[in-house]
This record gives sequence, C-alpha cells and structure tokens, in this order.
Amino acid sequence: MTVQQAQERLAQLKAVITDSNRRYYVENAPVLSDYEYDQLMYELQAIEAEFPELVTEDSPSRRVGSDLSDKKGSKEFEQFPHRYPMLSLGNTYSLSEIEDFAARASKALGGETFTYSCELKFDGTAICLTYKDGKLFRALTRGDGSVGDDVTRNVRRISNIPELLQGNDWPKEFEIRGEIYMPYSAFDRLNEEKLKEEEAPFANPRNAASGSLKLTAPEEVGRRGLECTLYHLLGENLPFQTHSEALDKAASWGLPVSEHRRICRNIEEIEAYISHWYTQRKFLPFATDGIVIKVNQLNLQRSLGYTAKSPRWAVAYKFKAEQALTPLLSIDYQVGRTGAVTPVANLEPVQLSGTVVKRATLHNPDQMELLDLHEGDWVYVEKGGEIIPKIVAVEPSKRLPGAVKPVFPTCCPVCGTLLVKDEGQAKYFCPNKDHCPPQIKGTLVNFLSRKAMNVFAGEANIEQLYNMGFVRNVADLYDLTENQLLHLEGWKHRMAERFLESLKESVRTTPFERVLFAIGIRFVGEQTAKTLARHFRTIDALKEASREQLLEVEDVGEVIADSILKWFADASNCEIIERLRKVGLHLAIEQQKGPASEALAGKTIVISGTYSISRDEMKALIERHGGKISSSVSAKTSWLLAGEKAGPEKLKKAESLGVPLLSEEELRAMLNEISGNPNAGLNNEEGETQEGIQLTLF
Ligand code: IVH
Repeated sequence: MTVQQAQERLAQLKAVITDSNRRYYVENAPVLSDYEYDQLMYELQAIEAEFPELVTEDSPSRRVGSDLSDKKGSKEFEQFPHRYPMLSLGNTYSLSEIEDFAARASKALGGETFTYSCELKFDGTAICLTYKDGKLFRALTRGDGSVGDDVTRNVRRISNIPELLQGNDWPKEFEIRGEIYMPYSAFDRLNEEKLKEEEAPFANPRNAASGSLKLTAPEEVGRRGLECTLYHLLGENLPFQTHSEALDKAASWGLPVSEHRRICRNIEEIEAYISHWYTQRKFLPFATDGIVIKVNQLNLQRSLGYTAKSPRWAVAYKFKAEQALTPLLSIDYQVGRTGAVTPVANLEPVQLSGTVVKRATLHNPDQMELLDLHEGDWVYVEKGGEIIPKIVAVEPSKRLPGAVKPVFPTCCPVCGTLLVKDEGQAKYFCPNKDHCPPQIKGTLVNFLSRKAMNVFAGEANIEQLYNMGFVRNVADLYDLTENQLLHLEGWKHRMAERFLESLKESVRTTPFERVLFAIGIRFVGEQTAKTLARHFRTIDALKEASREQLLEVEDVGEVIADSILKWFADASNCEIIERLRKVGLHLAIEQQKGPASEALAGKTIVISGTYSISRDEMKALIERHGGKISSSVSAKTSWLLAGEKAGPEKLKKAESLGVPLLSEEELRAMLNEISGNPNAGLNNEEGETQEGIQLTLF
C-alpha cells in the first residue's frame, strides 16, 4: 500500500465509522452489525500502525463513539464532565489474541503473580453513577468520553439502582460504572406495545435500552423495565486491593453487581470460562455480546495504564453472532409506500438461532455490490439480535463457474416506470407515485392509520378497495358510497355503514396536525407535522412558504424542506388538498373551542397505565370535558384513572391518601351520562369478523 492509497482508504474508513457511530450511539438504529463494524475498525488500526504519520487526533481509533444528544442547539439533557475519562474496551473475536493479551500483561508486570476477573459483557448502554454520602448524586451517560448527558432523573426510575446505599462502610464519594440494559422480557413487551401503536419496533434490546434511557419523560422510562449491572468502581484513595473485592463490597451496599464473575488464574481457566458462557448465555434473561477479562489487582491495573481509548488492563472477547450458510434462490425487488425499491433475498430455508430463515434484506444495490453477490451464491445470514436477518457475506468457494451478478432493475418491477436515484442516496425510487399500486396502497394505509385519520381499516380492506378500482388517492375515500362497498366480497350493510360513519367521524375529529401527517409528505413524520402545523397554522401558509421560511422552523432541515416544496409543486397533490377541503377536513389550526362538556370541571385526574386509546388521546378527552391532568398523586387528586398495568407506586400512593380509583369504563359511563352526548365518551368499538374479513373501526 502506498501512502496515498493509505490516505484514501483511511478517509473512507473514518467516514463510514463516524457515520455508523452516530447511528449506533445517537440514533439507536445501527446500520452495520458489530462484527462488520469491528472489521472496519481493525482495518483502520492496521493501516494506522503501518503509517503512524497519518494518525490524527480525530481518528475513531483514538476516541469513543459519542452518544450525546444535541438536537440543533436545544440540548435535551444537561451535560457534565466526567471526573475520569469514560473509555471503551479493546476487543477481539479470536482466542489467540486473548492469549496475546495475557502474555503482554504478564510481560509488562515483570513476572509478578496476578489473577484475572472474568465477567459477562452486557449488551446495553454505559452509565456512570456518582454516590455521595451514600446517596445517588448523579448519573451520566458515556457521552463522548469526557462529558456525558445527565440522565439522573431517568435513572432514579430504574428499579434495581438504589437511591440510598446500605451499610456504612462506603467511601464518602465514589463513582461506579456499568451498563443499563433491557431484559428480553421487557424488550418483547415494549415491542408488542409499539406494534400495537403502529410504531416502529426497536431492532434489539441494546437499542431499546439506550433509546429508553434518553426519553424525556421519566415516568415512561420507569415503565420500560430497564435494569442495571455495575462493573467498575472508581474514586480517590479507595481501600481495595483488587477489582473483585471492590465489586463484592459494592454488592454489599445493595448495588447491582453480576453474580457471574469468576477469578481465573491462567489462560486455560479464562478459556474454560469463555466456552462455558458461549453456550450458556443463551439461557440468560438478557443479551450479552462477549466476555470481559480484567487484570484483577488494582496496583497492576495502574501500572499497565491506558491507551487513548481503552485500558491496557482489560480486553473484551466478543461472540460472533450466529450465522447460517444457505443458497440464494432468487431476489425480489419490493416497492414501498415511498417508492423506494428494496432488494430482498429468497433463501433456501435454514435454521438460525431457533427460527427458520427464508428471506433476508439486501438493503440496496450498493450493499449487493459490497457483498459481491452472484446468482446462486451460498450466503451467510446473521440475526445478531436484530429482527430482520441480514446477509453478511458470500462463500466464494461455493460459487458456480460462470455465475453472473444479479441485475438491479432499471424499471419499477410493479408499474414499469424508469427508476430514479437521488444524489447521495443509496436507494432507487419509482417516481410514478400517483399510479404505482404499492405506493398508492401504502399511502392509503398510512392515511387511514391510527396516528393519522384513525380509520383503522385492515390492509386487506384497502387492497379490496384498490383492486375494485374504487380508490386511487386519499380524496377518493370520501367519495365512496355504500353501494360500492357492498360490492366488495364479505362486506355487509352494517360493516359498510360503520366504515362510512368512521370516515365521516375522522373528518370531524382529526386536527390539522394529524391531517398534515396523514397526507404522507415524505420525511414529515408525526412530530414534524405538529411543529409545522403550529408554525404555519394553515395548509395554505405552508404551501406558500419559501425554502428559507421552511428552514426557519425548528427541526426542519434541507431534506424535509425540499420534500415539502416538491410535494406542493405537484399539481395532483394540490388537487387532492382542494378535494379534502371540500369534504371538510381540518386544514388549519382550529380556534380554541369551548369544552365538550363540563362533566369533569374542577376535577384533577392522574392517569397511569394504558387504555384502549393512547395516553395523549386520553389526556385530550379529559381536558375537553373540563378536567385537569396532574402527573403525581396528591391529596388534591380527585381520581387516579387506572388503566392496564397502572404503576404500582401510584396505586399505593392513591390508596394511602384515600384517592379513589376510576376505570376507563367508569369514566366513559360518566361522560356519556353527564354530558348526555353520545359522542362525548370513548367511541371505541371492537371490530367484527365477517366471513374472514376483519375491519376494525375506532
Ligand atoms: S469494563 C475502562 N466490564 O462494553 C472500560 N465493560 O465495548 C471499563 N461493558 O464501554 C469497561 N459489560 O460499556 C466492562 N463487564 C463489563 C462490561 C463492560 C459491558 C461495556 C462497556 C464498555 C463496552 C466496551
């Protein structure tokens, strides 16, 4: 490799690693598997070792990835400096490198006898707790290693982190570091809820843990079932000789410390520990991604010291995610709501970590190129905690002679339109958004979804409406007649009537911000729609806004601004807006209306748990009837509205203060009764199943 080649490759590697750090630590949506990431990092380190003159201060080999969340200057969390830098660990996938680590440590320690503390490597997000006078003082994330985000309020909601320490032999002030993680059971529960709410699920427990720790509502953090394990105690003049002694003491103060730690005396014992956990970790209730091996004697740790990024006295042995090797049968090119074309591999079914894998995403043509995929190749698939399996490599020795590369289509596989690719984007798009069936159906599904117009018709129903040619865009929905609906297989009078009624209801009750989200402008999610609605107040003002005016809005960057301009520049979209206006949809922020009733006037209500509608909808409902919402139970609380899985602390407090509990049904009855308005209560009827077709109307 020449210096110039090294320079070029380093620049590439730095860009990819920096981007993937941001996606992993800040966005909690990683694009690379740990293994792929580590391979890139090893390559970077190898080049830097060969060309030390090319090493720069900002190299990812010298800094830890930053988790600091700092959106456009409005810091979500206060930041504080770490007293001791918060570093990462050197890692390896090979046992021989663990042997090298042990040999290096013995050499550096000049033959002194020492032991190793072997521990599980918990797959979560790092945390640093400070205790002062036996009380939890502060909790910081790792941040960029020198400053961290203050997440103390959230951490106080994690049930196994004590506010007060037991005993009295703790140092006056110390730090203890560890990992916040989400056990599989809590992860499954959270993702089930997310799917019910039509939100994107978390890809794995690690992302769920770090995403949850950075929530701005501590109450919600408390509901997420996070746990903590602590593995590194630091402070001035601590009275311990060994790391394991420090952790044993921490455990005696009530701090959560893993019971799976072992002292090993030599490499054979380390390897036995590794091979034990390689199989047994599958039975643990939480995710682990390796083993950490630490020199146990604190004086020896001090003499080994640190590199810029990690301690020389510890190393991580990482488990490779389970892989399976299977032949690629064919590739489907799927067209999504936005027109993005995603290649999906059909595989010979193969067992992987307990499930059968038949399909795996290939993401985009760049990824196919990177894998050097050929037709008929045998491919390695990996799940690595993620839900959608991924092809990570091909097996070149199994390639058939003369095998050719798959050709990415130039035209939309559904409607035949020439595909386009925006500069800087890896995906191809079908630009025929008005006539390409999957795009139209996707737009309709999004429009009717719960977070949009909240007319929850199943995808099968929308498919029927589309196939019969009754709807081609969202405005067509409001022209549907009962006669048309009765032509659809399985639809009876009552179902058609309820569907039309629900559409009518959506016109009346959906506020502008949700309509704005519903119409499906690319990159305008729920939150952005809210911000835009508040800022511009009417759809006409938004339509007239210049690029500069759009960019002035908080959280609107160039991508969103351009997408909005493009959407309104399209005459067919403006036509749809005019039709929706005629139907009566809210296209402007409503003047503050008077309350729906006074049924709850003067009442203060605390809500806890989940209901048949979202918590936000519940709050709005109470407020519309004159009630006040409060976040904590006090003597002044009129009722605790206890939903499913209501918080035990709130229930206890309500009981001790004599605050009465109210169920959703009781509230519903109360609103119907007192207001005498049949629409005032919660209009939530379960859908019915008719001859195999399900339509759920809310
Ligand atoms: S010791 C100076 N012990 O893994 C670094 N880290 O990939 C001390 N981790 O940053 C870290 N389990 O967030 C240590 N038993 C364990 C661990 C552990 C998980 C995390 C930690 C670290 C990362 C490195």
